[in-house]
Amino acid sequence: MASKLDIERIIESTDIVQLVSEFVPLQKSGANFKGLCPFHNEKTPSFTVSPDKKIAHCFSCKKGGNAIQFLMDIKNITFNQAINELAKRNSINLEEYIEDKKTPQYTKYYEITKISKQFYQRNLHQTESGQIALEYLHKRGLDDETIKMFGIGLASNKMDVLYKVLKDLNYLELDMMDLGLIRKGDNGYYDLFTKRIMFPICDEEGNVVAYSGRIFNNDDKNQAKYINSPETFLYKKGLILYNLNMAKQAILKNKRVILHEGQMDVIASVKSGLSEAVCTLGTALTDAQTKLLKKYTNDVIICYDGDNAGISASIKAIEMFNKYQINVKLVLLPDKLDPDDYVKKYGNEAYLKYFNDNIIDSMEYRYLIALKDKNLKDNNVVEEIKNEIFSSINSLKSNTIKEVYLNKLANDLKVSFAALNNDYNYHYKRVRVSNYVENSFEVEKNQNYYYEEVKTSEYNYILHELRIFDYAKITKEKAIYIDSKGIIDALSDDNQKIWFKLIENYYDKYQVFDNARFLNVLNEQERNIYIENIKVQQNIKHIQVEYTDADLEEVLKALLKNKDKKSLDSLSNAIYNTSVEAEKIALIEEKIKLRREQDKKEKKKVGR
Ligand code: UTP
Ligand code: MN
Repeated sequence: MASKLDIERIIESTDIVQLVSEFVPLQKSGANFKGLCPFHNEKTPSFTVSPDKKIAHCFSCKKGGNAIQFLMDIKNITFNQAINELAKRNSINLEEYIEDKKTPQYTKYYEITKISKQFYQRNLHQTESGQIALEYLHKRGLDDETIKMFGIGLASNKMDVLYKVLKDLNYLELDMMDLGLIRKGDNGYYDLFTKRIMFPICDEEGNVVAYSGRIFNNDDKNQAKYINSPETFLYKKGLILYNLNMAKQAILKNKRVILHEGQMDVIASVKSGLSEAVCTLGTALTDAQTKLLKKYTNDVIICYDGDNAGISASIKAIEMFNKYQINVKLVLLPDKLDPDDYVKKYGNEAYLKYFNDNIIDSMEYRYLIALKDKNLKDNNVVEEIKNEIFSSINSLKSNTIKEVYLNKLANDLKVSFAALNNDYNYHYKRVRVSNYVENSFEVEKNQNYYYEEVKTSEYNYILHELRIFDYAKITKEKAIYIDSKGIIDALSDDNQKIWFKLIENYYDKYQVFDNARFLNVLNEQERNIYIENIKVQQNIKHIQVEYTDADLEEVLKALLKNKDKKSLDSLSNAIYNTSVEAEKIALIEEKIKLRREQDKKEKKKVGR
C-alpha cells in the first residue's frame, strides 16, 4: 500500500500537462493549459490544467483534481490502480521507498536507542549480575567477540534503571515510550525489559530500532522465552530482517542470502563463516521482507528449524520467493535441530560442512519431507505420499526431472515404475481437466456447439474423450458407429478399459444404457475412474449443451487427429531413444510413411 508520503511523491513527480494531453488536446493559456472537458459535452474549452498547482479541473462540470483523481476518472479505475500506474510511469517503488531518516525526530530517536544499547552492554560486561548472563552466553557458545559484534547486552533486575538514565540525560518520557523502551504504570515510569539478555535489532543502515530480549534464568519458566519491542515509529517487524545491516556486504559478495528463523541461528551461522545470514523475528516472512532481500540478491537459501513447524514455514517461504521470482534452495537439518542446536552438538566446522553439502532445491526438499518419518506399511500413507509427490512434480517443466522423481519414488515405495507412471498419468489428466474446468468459466458462454466451445483449449482432448463416451450411451447404434471409426486407439489407457467394457460386455447383454447396470459390469478400479469422469463432467455445467450429430463428427475428427499425432510422437520418441543406426533409419522411414498417409487422409477430407 502507498503511504501518505508515497502519494505526495506521486503527485509531485507526475507531469500533469503531459498526462492530461494523452487524453485531451491542450492549448497554452497564460500559465495554464486549456482543452475541451473529457467528462462532459462542451463547445468552448473549460477544462484547465495548472502545472503549478498540479491539478486538472473542469470549471463547468467540476470534475477532475490531482493526477491520481484525473486518471481514476478518465480511465474509470480505482484509487490503487491509479497509484500503481503513476508510480510505474515515474519509476517510484512504492514499498521500497525509504523515508528521509535525517530529520531531527529520527536523529533524536536514534540517539536514544544508541544510549540504551550502550546501557545494556555496560550492564552485561561491567556489573555483578552481568556475570551470570555472560556465563549463560558463553555456555551457549558465544565468545566475547561475537557478543560485542552483535551488540548483545543485559536489561538489569531493577525496574527503572534505563528510565532514570535517559531522564538524567533530559530525554522526554514521551519519546522513550514512543520507542517502546519505557511504560507508564500506577507507580510511575518503568523499563519494558528487565532481567533479559538483549539483542539489538537494527535497520538496514545499522540504527538500533528495537530489541529482542531472552530469559536466561531457570526460575523464569512461566515467562515468554523472547519478548520483542512493540511496533513503533522506528520498528515495523514485517519490514525488518535481523542482521541485514551486517550481512549486506557478504550477501552482495557471495550472491546469496541465508534465511533463518531466529537470531541465535543467525549468530551460529555467522560464527561458522556464513556471514550472509539473516532472520525474521518470530513472524512469517512478509512480502516487504522478500522485496527487501530482492534488492540485494535473487538467490536465497532457507535454513529453518528441522522440526514440523520449521518445515511448514519453509514451504510457505518457498511460495513467497516463487511469487517474486527469487531462486530458492534449502538446507534441511537432521533430527529436528535448528542451526544453533547443530552447532552446539557438532561444532562450527561440522555445521559449515553439513550446510555446504546439503543445499538442495525445492523439489528435492518436498521429496525428502514427503517421505520423512513415514510408515510405508500403511496404504493410506503411501497414497498420501504419492499424491504429494505427484502434485510437486506437476509444476516441473522438465520431463526428464519428472521421470527422475517418479523413478526415485518407485524405488522408495518398492513398486514398479510402470505402475507408478500409470497412476501419475491418470493424476495428471485429472489435474488438467480440473484446471480446464476453472479456465473454461472464462470462455464465452453463448456458443452453440460443444466443439466450438472447447476447440481452442489445450485440454480439449480429455474433454472429447468424456464427451464421446456420452454419445455412446445414447444408443447402441451410436456406440457401434463410434467404435467402427477405430476410436479405441485414440483414447487414453484408463478410458479405454471402460470403453471396452461398454462395447463388449454391456451392449452385448443389454440394448439400452442404464447407469446402475453399467456400474455392475465394471471392476472397482474402472468404477472409480468412471465415477471420477462423471464428476468432472458435472463440473463442466455450461458445456452440457445439446448432443447433435454435427457435434459428434467434430469430436470424432478431433480425437482421430490427436491419435495420428500421438503415433507420430511415439515414433519420434523411439527414433530419439534408439542408438542402433539401422533401427533409427527404419523408424525414420516408418515415420515418413505415416506422415504421408496422414496427409493423404487430410486432403481427402478437405475434398481434393
Ligand atoms: P525459537 O523458539 O525457534 O527460538 O524461535 P530459538 O531461535 O531456537 O531461540 P533459542 O535457541 O531457544 O534461544 C525463533 C524465533 O522466534 C522469536 C525469536 O526471534 C526467536 O529467535 N520468538 C520465539 C519470539 O519472538 N518469542 C518467543 O517467545 C519465542
Ligand atoms: Mn535455538
